[in-house]
Amino acid sequence: MNRRTFLKAGAAAVGGLAASHLAFAAEAEILLSPGEPGAVINPHIYGHFIEHLGGVIYDGVWVGRDSSIPNVDGIRKQFVDDMKRIGAPNLRWPGGCFADGYHWRDGIGKVSGRPRTYNFWQRRMPAGIDATETNQFGVHEFMHLCRLIGAEPYVAANVGSGTPSEFHDWVSYCNAPTGTLSLADDRAANGDPQPFGIRYWGVGNESWGCGGAMRPEEYATKYRQFVTQFPNYTAPFLVATGPRGHSADGDIGWTTGFFEAMHGFEPPQGFSLHFYTDLRPTPLKAGDFKAPEWYEVLLRGMRLDKVIDDHWKEMGKFDAAHRTKLVIDEWGVWYAPGSEIAPSYILSETITLRDAVHTGMTFDIFNRHAEKIAMANVAQSVNCIHSLFVAQGDKFVRTPVYHVFDMYRSHMGARQVPVSNPVADLNVPVLAGQAHLPGLSASASIRDRRVTLTLTNPSLDSSLSLRVSFAGGARATETRASVLTHSDMRATNSFADPDEVKPATHPVRVVADRLELNLPRQAVVLVECAIT
Ligand code: AHR
Repeated sequence: MNRRTFLKAGAAAVGGLAASHLAFAAEAEILLSPGEPGAVINPHIYGHFIEHLGGVIYDGVWVGRDSSIPNVDGIRKQFVDDMKRIGAPNLRWPGGCFADGYHWRDGIGKVSGRPRTYNFWQRRMPAGIDATETNQFGVHEFMHLCRLIGAEPYVAANVGSGTPSEFHDWVSYCNAPTGTLSLADDRAANGDPQPFGIRYWGVGNESWGCGGAMRPEEYATKYRQFVTQFPNYTAPFLVATGPRGHSADGDIGWTTGFFEAMHGFEPPQGFSLHFYTDLRPTPLKAGDFKAPEWYEVLLRGMRLDKVIDDHWKEMGKFDAAHRTKLVIDEWGVWYAPGSEIAPSYILSETITLRDAVHTGMTFDIFNRHAEKIAMANVAQSVNCIHSLFVAQGDKFVRTPVYHVFDMYRSHMGARQVPVSNPVADLNVPVLAGQAHLPGLSASASIRDRRVTLTLTNPSLDSSLSLRVSFAGGARATETRASVLTHSDMRATNSFADPDEVKPATHPVRVVADRLELNLPRQAVVLVECAIT
């Protein structure tokens, strides 16, 4: 179901939002059709990503067994608890660009015996700061983390500097039953007699760039070499490297080239799409901005809707049955350097209410495209781009983005519900003048007659007085709502003020057969109800 279908004009069209700088409450009515549910929203859409980069693994996730910071066998306890709390469905590791330089054998066996190796990100470290990889956090530690959280592992294999046989050995080491292959016995000797049963394998990462600078047809050949002899202990979900979706042209040529070159061969189950709201080439700052920069970020983020459609359509030319699904395994708002936690925490950035609103709008896009997306992974969960957490030594804080993950969690595994949303576009100031931005972002889902409706009002000026009706005579009961907002669009959570931006209970009324609520400006709202 695309955005057009979802946003087709509904019962009561709203006008007057064009003059965006007047402070007023517009009125709108949206219509939900819970009797016509669509695709199941794959829980994996709400997935995660951690890479050996800056302060992500070392400090963010791994504090070490001897640390005074509360930990479970070296893993930061607060990270585990909070990821568990939001039901993190999966965790992608070890990269990113790091993956195509990583040799898995370096990260197994006695910790004291593990080698120190080169980390791809050394080239980005400020002068004099070392990023040598200590390999303290390897595949056993990663699997322990996944088990603690209850997340499914998604491992990115090394195609750029590895070999098919190194990949196959890694898969066998992880998945073969003890007592069969010697590699399985090695795993048992290293503390894990039970096979890891890893299903999700990324066959390289950004193979057009840091993963080997290949052309799509060259990568397609590599892909086939890497997967043809795949050790099939656990039926795999193989993810091929896909396009750089945030390129100016959406990088459609990569998709065409890859699938053309795969003609006559078994297609992958997943095709990776990276989409960063990439502000690095702009003067825009992460934590200090005005209205045009607020809207610029949201507008650029919304381009994802078309990028998904374009690649899906292209994939359909080669695979009408759409056996291959999209895996958006890196997404987030990426600002130019300048707001790092500390110099060695490269790529970390200040996360504000703007990024939380961007997250709500992105999740609504994912939900509306649920039939196309098998998985998505925020880049990255801690101490990085678009993070849910900031951790430094014994300090830890949840960012505003964390709260949006929490608010959207009931969508996981529910079936999408069509939302007719007639709210007119806003005419907003952006870096290069004026632009149109959706006046309301919405998505809904249903599970066991419980409806989840998420709404984002991106306007800095106007609240929305909203009526929510149900098609087919359904009536709502047991209604509750919460809101994430702040009077300052730049609001953030810091170690000193960890709860500056956090959800609050929000009033919602049941009036006859519909719901009524106010949607404040610059806010994400969650409404949950039962329907009879
Ligand atoms: O998430 C940071 C980096 O962005 C990843 O390592 C790479 O895949 C992408 O370019």
